[in-house]
Amino acid sequence: MTNLHSPMQQHKLQNYNSARGAEAYKADYRNKLHRKWSDKRERALLESYFLELAQLGIGPAESILDLPCGHGRLSGLLKQHCRDLIEADWSYTMVSLNQRDHGRDGRSYCRASALEIPLPDRSVDVAVSFRLSHHLESQQLREQHLHELFRVARKAVIVTWFSASSLKNVLRQVRVKLVGKKPKNVLRNARVREVAEQDGFVQKQAKPLFRIGSGHVLGLFVRR
Ligand SMILES: C[S@@+](CC[C@H](N)C(=O)[O-])C[C@H]1O[C@@H](n2cnc3c(N)ncnc32)[C@H](O)[C@@H]1O
Repeated sequence: MTNLHSPMQQHKLQNYNSARGAEAYKADYRNKLHRKWSDKRERALLESYFLELAQLGIGPAESILDLPCGHGRLSGLLKQHCRDLIEADWSYTMVSLNQRDHGRDGRSYCRASALEIPLPDRSVDVAVSFRLSHHLESQQLREQHLHELFRVARKAVIVTWFSASSLKNVLRQVRVKLVGKKPKNVLRNARVREVAEQDGFVQKQAKPLFRIGSGHVLGLFVRR
């Protein structure tokens, strides 16, 4: 696998792939207040989405794919909702760190690109992707990642994206015009719904992580 399989900014990618960068990302969630808040909120939303899946008669899942898994921040929570958890990431360092911390009990690990997931169609019950979309540099790649999640998921997809209509993005657009800031890697919520529909999924939820201070949305989609 080459860097072409992960077309995010090279310095960010190198950072995630270095031992220092992977450890630093993990430490951020222990030490930085804003990371701890967003982690808490993401976990609460995830739990509510799994509850909704249970109410829809979907779950507990036999298998969940967590891609990108990073250092396994959500591994413990996801494992509580399935028998087999697949932890996958482009960064070999992240996958190794994750395996060292969480072990192999009911979990498997692999290095994989989220743009070409090395799994057959409908091969996992639930596909989960946290905090990748906004790193992908073009609309085409962000949509390719969505298509891949919808392809491999038998029952449901849980995915984050950076919303074009979020306050954070609206403010960024002003700075893009005024001071030439780099635009955010966003998706329109309606476009995410369209992609899901094309691939046979219905949107059940699309909740913002926070209304102020974050543009991330967490979506829940189930197969029609
Ligand atoms: C911000 S971290 C998120 C990790 C984890 N989902 C979380 O929320 O803690 C982004 C991760 O995406 C991985 N990544 C970047 N490009 C990727 C790609 N094309 N395929 C799979 N993983 C990728 C990086 O190695 C990094 O671990």
